[in-house]
Amino acid sequence: MKNIQKGPLIISGNAHHTLAEDIASYIGQDLTKAEVFKFNNDNTFVKILENVRERDVFIIQPTAFPVNDNIMELLIMIDAAKRASAGRITAVIPYFSYARTDKKDQPRVPITGRLIADLITTAGSDRVMMMDLHAGQVQGFFSATVDELTALPILASYFVEKKLDDWVVVSPDIGGTKRARDFANKLGAPLAIIEKRRIGNKDTVETLNIIGEVKDRSAILFDDEINTGGTMIAGSKILKDNGVKDVYVAATHGVFPNSSLSKIIRTDDIKEIVVTDSLPIENENSKLKILPISELLGEAIKRTNRGDSVGALFL
Ligand code: R5P
Repeated sequence: MKNIQKGPLIISGNAHHTLAEDIASYIGQDLTKAEVFKFNNDNTFVKILENVRERDVFIIQPTAFPVNDNIMELLIMIDAAKRASAGRITAVIPYFSYARTDKKDQPRVPITGRLIADLITTAGSDRVMMMDLHAGQVQGFFSATVDELTALPILASYFVEKKLDDWVVVSPDIGGTKRARDFANKLGAPLAIIEKRRIGNKDTVETLNIIGEVKDRSAILFDDEINTGGTMIAGSKILKDNGVKDVYVAATHGVFPNSSLSKIIRTDDIKEIVVTDSLPIENENSKLKILPISELLGEAIKRTNRGDSVGALFL
């Protein structure tokens, strides 16, 4: 049993300062001061500037771009906290991109999600807090305790406030059916599924059939993440071709590499793009709605620190 003194301490890496500040502000305190930077030889250096001895330390670091740098930063921050005698260390990784590489589904490929999980545990993290993993089983990659939170209630509340009565929730592929069904149940809406085929390892997507009734309805195309937007753009086209009135695309994580967000915004078939701020998103546009997750994370951190139920947040 770890010896934890007093309330939580929140430390931020460089991946998403705003989110870390919002979390600390919800909890009612400042971020614990730390220097996290690179020397001119490209080596990352971390110095925690306040005492963390025996404290309950939460390090906020989603795998934002540059992903590999931010992972290295996280590992070094965990090491710094461990060597500073933190009582307990939780890596808070609201978006964990390597969860996508979770199986050996072709010859001679890695299971990088498992590798990074091992590194995080080896660095000294006692717990990990994540949100809407690509596949829930990835929790099992960690020998440390994992709390997987979900933004489903946050996203559902946003759509409930629109007070439309002709929704259909659509999964953009068969693999996302359970997630979309859970979301549809929260909204009391029917479910449809797009049969999607991905070509090779590239981002190119070919969409096929729609299973379920969508004609004359407003569709929420619902996924765990929007990456390049290829899935959502192809999905919104097939929905429009099948008589859907308006297409809203919604996901917990907005990754949006390069100029992909502008491309999604320019897609006339899409009425609105709804994501959370699990990752930093610079682009501001009336078609883009970013829902904050800091209260949820802040509350989960407070409960973890007090030893209260985190699951009770989602009942
Ligand atoms: C994959 O199965 C995921 O759930 C998403 O469908 C995927 O990450 C979306 O990628 P993109 O936006 O590049 O089509």
